[in-house]
Amino acid sequence: MWNKNERKQYQAIKKISYAYAAAAMAVPLCLTPLRAVAAESDGGKKPVTVGFSQIGAESGWRTAETKSIRSEAARRGVNLKFSDAQQKQENQIKALGAFIAQKVDAIILAPVVEAGWEPILKQAKAAKIPVILVDRGVNVSDDSLYTTLIASDFVAEGKMAGEWLAGKLNGKGNVVELQGTPGAAPAIDRKKGFEEALKNHPAVRIIKSQTGEFTRAKGKEVMEAFLKGAQGGGTKINAVYAHNDDMALGAIQAIEEAGLKPGSDVIVVSIDGIKPAFEAMVAGKLNCTVECNPLLGPAAFDAVEAVLAGRSLPKKSVVRDRIFEQSVAKEVIGSREY
Ligand code: AHR
Repeated sequence: MWNKNERKQYQAIKKISYAYAAAAMAVPLCLTPLRAVAAESDGGKKPVTVGFSQIGAESGWRTAETKSIRSEAARRGVNLKFSDAQQKQENQIKALGAFIAQKVDAIILAPVVEAGWEPILKQAKAAKIPVILVDRGVNVSDDSLYTTLIASDFVAEGKMAGEWLAGKLNGKGNVVELQGTPGAAPAIDRKKGFEEALKNHPAVRIIKSQTGEFTRAKGKEVMEAFLKGAQGGGTKINAVYAHNDDMALGAIQAIEEAGLKPGSDVIVVSIDGIKPAFEAMVAGKLNCTVECNPLLGPAAFDAVEAVLAGRSLPKKSVVRDRIFEQSVAKEVIGSREY
């Protein structure tokens, strides 16, 4: 069942296109808190202790996810041990080791990259500590090393962005791509989805592609270099595809500083749907954002409660995402929750 805000947002995106709306409806997990229960382990005597290994604070999306996990833990009376890895997998592995040594009841992990998790997940499994993955997946040969993954379909997000952009460019144009963190699931999958969409539009070409590490500062820096190349006699840039809103906002700054108008001289499409992206759309500088919902706290703690109660869980729950273009931004911005 959708809440009032979600229904309002859906009414707004219906105006974009039937195809996008249908794709948005197809994904099953609705991130509405279903219940607030004081979580307890040990026959109801001791509060549940959960370790949360977060990637860092590289983007508005990440900050919203941290807030969602923290506030849901507080709401349910969970004792949360929080660790910020500052973008480093080695710090996440250390944090998981510490959670295991402290004998937490469960671990929530947002893994920075896909590879390299087997040894530490094996340790968690040996200690009988369930691991709930949120936001990003891992590459492991044995999927019993984690309990469940709650995440968006990043390939679908990239496809939505690609289809939308090809339509906006009338099937022809030069695109530069700002990729996310190398080796991260959203960077790999959003690239893949976008390229898949462009297979149907061969005259839309990716002329340059580089990582902006999901940050505004790096997105700006990389875009500046792309624009210098174009203004120094290189190929004209018609559009930017950024794997997240923060990089798009950095790119917008670079475009303006180069004397061009983002949103018209250069089309900008990105992923996340954070409030500053809606503000940029209202200002006419960003053309479109594909939502990636970071409010994963309620679903993550539902999963923790279920596994501690001995209930089985699906291996993956896909979060429902939608696409918003500039034309609906004004109508929708007031109801955005992050
Ligand atoms: O994994 C989700 C991605 O990570 C978000 O799109 C991005 O903003 C974040 O840093």
